[in-house]
Amino acid sequence: MIEPVALVNKQLVASGFGRAAESYDGAAHFQQQVAAEVYQRIPESLHPGVVVDLGSGTGMHTARLLDEYSAALVIGCDLSWGMLKHAKSRCSMANWCGGDAEALPFRNGSVDLVFSSLAIQWCDAFERVLSEVYRVMRPGGCFVFSTLCEGTLGELHHAWQGVDDFEHVNPYPAFEEHHQAISQSGFEVESLDLIPHQVFYNRLGELTRELEALGANTLTVERRQGLMTPGRYRALQQGYEMFRNDQKLLPATYQVLFSVLRKKG
Ligand SMILES: C[S@@+](CC[C@H](N)C(=O)[O-])C[C@H]1O[C@@H](n2cnc3c(N)ncnc32)[C@H](O)[C@@H]1O
Repeated sequence: MIEPVALVNKQLVASGFGRAAESYDGAAHFQQQVAAEVYQRIPESLHPGVVVDLGSGTGMHTARLLDEYSAALVIGCDLSWGMLKHAKSRCSMANWCGGDAEALPFRNGSVDLVFSSLAIQWCDAFERVLSEVYRVMRPGGCFVFSTLCEGTLGELHHAWQGVDDFEHVNPYPAFEEHHQAISQSGFEVESLDLIPHQVFYNRLGELTRELEALGANTLTVERRQGLMTPGRYRALQQGYEMFRNDQKLLPATYQVLFSVLRKKG
């Protein structure tokens, strides 16, 4: 029997991020660090006329792209109207558009640089994102991005497994799956790195509150999650305690893939 394909519920994703638009920046320390690493990877030789920040969120990085490429048309594109509204209010100089990374609202061969940080992992199929970015990219243009791979929030996933059989952490494709999709995309690979990052907390509550403030606690596919009772939360805390390190801190691991892809031109 063929397993039903789990389709990402994009309305849930968009509304989850929309609700978090006000609190996102205050909690996004790790996301800022990753975006800075993506930014550093943009080839210096690139002089883009049209730049898209894909999954632009609150627009923090769109504003930076606008500073760097002041002569370019810079567009922040996001699935979430709540995020777009917030981004527009902070940076009216950029252009903002609603759109899905898997069905981009841009013409073929019209974009020179697509920048994207920690957004693609919210999509259904990485292959579809690649094919859409390839379609809208002008020959010679670059796709510079980060996304998350299997093993991300592995400690939380492991701790939940001791509590019940439901899925509480979104599944992330393996690095090899990303690698294979990229090798079939038509892009030339300028770089492709998997770099684990860890964020540390004193208590589990700091991590769960942070995920909530980021809007990153939304499950992309609706699944029964079970009610969070005090007893279940205690069991979750106990499960997480096994990861407490020598500095007495709880780690949360993120497997971050960074890549620079170029369309031959
Ligand atoms: C974790 S936030 C990252 C925001 C920003 N890039 C940053 O680094 O802070 C993920 C963003 O991707 C957006 N997003 C999720 N799925 C998307 C999709 N299919 N197409 C476009 N944007 C999407 C969300 O609405 C959210 O604003």
